[in-house]
Amino acid sequence: MGSAVAVRPESGPRPVTTASAGGLPLPPRPKAVRIGVIGLGYWGPNLVRNFREVIGDDLCVCCDQQESRVEAVRRRYPSLRATSDAAAVLADDGIDGVAIATPVATHYPLAKAALEAGKSVLIEKPMTADVAQAEELVDLAQKRGLALMVDHVFVYSPPVRKIKALLDTGELGRLLYVDSVRINLGLFQRDVNVVWDLAPHDLSIVDHLLGRTPKSVAAFGSVHTGSGHEDVAYLNLDFGDGLIANFHVNWLSPVKIRYTMLGGSRKSLVYNDLDPVETIKVYDSGINVREDDLEGRRNILIDYRMGDVWSPRLEPGEPLRTVVSHFVDCVRGGTTPVTDGQAGLRVVRVLDAAQRSIKAQGGRITL
Ligand SMILES: NC(=O)c1ccc[n+]([C@@H]2O[C@H](COP(=O)([O-])OP(=O)(O)OC[C@H]3O[C@@H](n4cnc5c(N)ncnc54)[C@H](O)[C@@H]3O)[C@@H](O)[C@H]2O)c1
Repeated sequence: MGSAVAVRPESGPRPVTTASAGGLPLPPRPKAVRIGVIGLGYWGPNLVRNFREVIGDDLCVCCDQQESRVEAVRRRYPSLRATSDAAAVLADDGIDGVAIATPVATHYPLAKAALEAGKSVLIEKPMTADVAQAEELVDLAQKRGLALMVDHVFVYSPPVRKIKALLDTGELGRLLYVDSVRINLGLFQRDVNVVWDLAPHDLSIVDHLLGRTPKSVAAFGSVHTGSGHEDVAYLNLDFGDGLIANFHVNWLSPVKIRYTMLGGSRKSLVYNDLDPVETIKVYDSGINVREDDLEGRRNILIDYRMGDVWSPRLEPGEPLRTVVSHFVDCVRGGTTPVTDGQAGLRVVRVLDAAQRSIKAQGGRITL
């Protein structure tokens, strides 16, 4: 999406009215970008905190339909306007962009209304509850020339950025498999199953790292609560060229695990998001395949290579802060977010295929 963001006259560059002590003009201040946050439950307050740090008072309003949540934000940020009326936020001409952190089923109507009101949108993962909604939002943002960004927060995290750099420089060689476990006890969501809640993290990471989409998806899942929502699931993505990716997502696990393994033809990598010291470990281990022809019989011989293990240093930084800064930059500069609507749509397509596969007892769905 090459979005050329329309800039409101009132949010244009501020005039330079002061001079530095040496009489030289100060560099122009960046254009103000005014933001509203809708949804102040578990995740929304993290967005509010980060927007406050990045744009200060240009986070000009936040909103939740529950008055108690509005009140909690008012207490914490007395100068920040807070309301229970999302329509008022969307009707506010002084706002350039909205961040939407409401339950998944409400993403589409709120984002659509925001785009129609001329506002850029940062939307929580997963972008929408179905593929058609995601396609419509991508189309609408493009037609209006507005930024549409999805909070695929892990894409902006130091470990994933490092893994991307290692892959792009060829350190791991050709990727052969991805194996990921993202499990813990709860939090049960009321409106989506464990696939739509947790797998967007893994799918967005893989989407970003590989830059290509799987050819097919197969998934298994089961329901243990009577809610109709799967709480344990296994996804398998086939990229059609020997690369397969497996994801285990689970709300019933007694232990919390965030573990991703990437096996490459040269080296392999383990990413443990819960290890603050050695979050990534690169293993210079693997196999060498030889062929010989002993007594007229062709033999495949496997040699094992056990080399060094090293752990790259990671830049510190809160990923959500990078998300928020990037959104503001995209709104200000009319640039396309790294995790734009197309990225959100790609993830929703895989989620939808996984859901259909679960209903078909693991039948493989071609994308
Ligand atoms: N990126 C991440 O790592 C991450 C982490 C957690 C949650 N999320 C996502 O954030 C979203 C919200 O999750 P949560 O756990 O904060 O949910 P939550 O239920 O705790 O909070 C959602 C809030 O939205 C409010 N709301 C609902 N409809 C509204 C409307 N029309 N107008 C105003 N307010 C409205 C609710 O009152 C509630 O306070 C979900 O999409 C979830 O997937 C993302």
